[in-house]
Amino acid sequence: MALIKAALLGFGTVGQGVYEALKTHREQLKAVLGEEVVIEGILVKDGSKQRDVDEHVLVTTDFEEILQIEGLQIVFEAIVGEEPGFTYLSKALEKGCHVITANKVMFARHGRTLLDKAEKLERFVGFEATTAGGTPIIRSIAQLLQVNEIHSVEAILNGTSNYILTNMREKGLPFQDVLKRAQELGYAEADPASDIEGHDAFFKLMILSELSFGETPEWKDVERKGITDVTSEQIAVFKDWGFKVKHLARIRRDRDQFISSVKPVLVDAAHPLYGVEDVQNAIMVETSLAGKVTVQGAGAGKLPTASAMVEDLTYVLQSNSTFARKKKIAPFAAGSLAEEADR
Ligand code: NAP
Ligand code: HSE
Repeated sequence: MALIKAALLGFGTVGQGVYEALKTHREQLKAVLGEEVVIEGILVKDGSKQRDVDEHVLVTTDFEEILQIEGLQIVFEAIVGEEPGFTYLSKALEKGCHVITANKVMFARHGRTLLDKAEKLERFVGFEATTAGGTPIIRSIAQLLQVNEIHSVEAILNGTSNYILTNMREKGLPFQDVLKRAQELGYAEADPASDIEGHDAFFKLMILSELSFGETPEWKDVERKGITDVTSEQIAVFKDWGFKVKHLARIRRDRDQFISSVKPVLVDAAHPLYGVEDVQNAIMVETSLAGKVTVQGAGAGKLPTASAMVEDLTYVLQSNSTFARKKKIAPFAAGSLAEEADR
């Protein structure tokens, strides 16, 4: 049987999840793709750590060695930060690979550039895992946009923050203890300040904005606040009154104006995102024809995120006509992601 050769950039929570999912779901993938997917190389930062991988797998700290893998078709990226992820994925596309990323910091900044490059080279960029972990929001929005217009997005986009707020309210646990648990569970970013100060949800909201509206607001105009000022005492009082604190990412386009924010908000039981708990994310999209559509699922973690990347893989390998490729990319109309000034 022919092989689909793939490489993994990063072997932390997400990279290991992809490696595991490709093994545990080998038969399903074979049935869908007609070929076996094999990880041939893994790029890491620290070459001295022991990695539990098959003997044939090249584990390296040198990206050029990954690019030299003969017949490499797919590059999964799950490393941290804008660079070197952007440079690596640009080179992988130029080499003729399809790329699939979970790196929302990199993609929020450089997604447009990567998608343009991929379109010219007739390659794909999968980015489902950048936003809301295993929740298939990217494909859902792309599907809705075939005909609908999107008016607004309201969402819980950071699993770590939602996990912290839920456990503070429902179990009375202190903020720092729950954050530590979120880190142990692999939900939090390498620097958890990104989660609890709202940057992570902000990047995801900008990705959804670009996808939904073909542009983003000026990044500096988006109100951004994390959950670090929310106290146990406040949460207890709000609970007595029947409210929850939710970290909400919201954007609405009103003619040429965006109204957008990422911040903690008090919600009551009538709010559609009131019941979204723990590491769950949910995204409510208001559309011109379908009305309000909500997608909910695990927003972080090893296997849910791996699920998004592996599903991207099947999409990429099955959608091999130019038409399908254009449809997938179309929602990212000439936009502003790559042009925004530094925050
Ligand atoms: P992680 O556990 O910290 O793992 C990061 C991996 O990247 C490690 O294997 C690290 O190498 C490698 N790495 C870091 N910098 C590198 C560099 N310059 N060159 C080569 N390798 C490098 O992080 P993670 O939780 O898996 O997250 C990975 C990415 O996925 C991030 O962009 C994150 O935002 C995104 N993401 C995470 C989740 C989640 O639930 N965790 C969900 C969706 C998206 P070493 O092993 O040698 O240190
Ligand atoms: N740290 C992120 C979160 C991972 O907690 O939502 C998923 O993107």
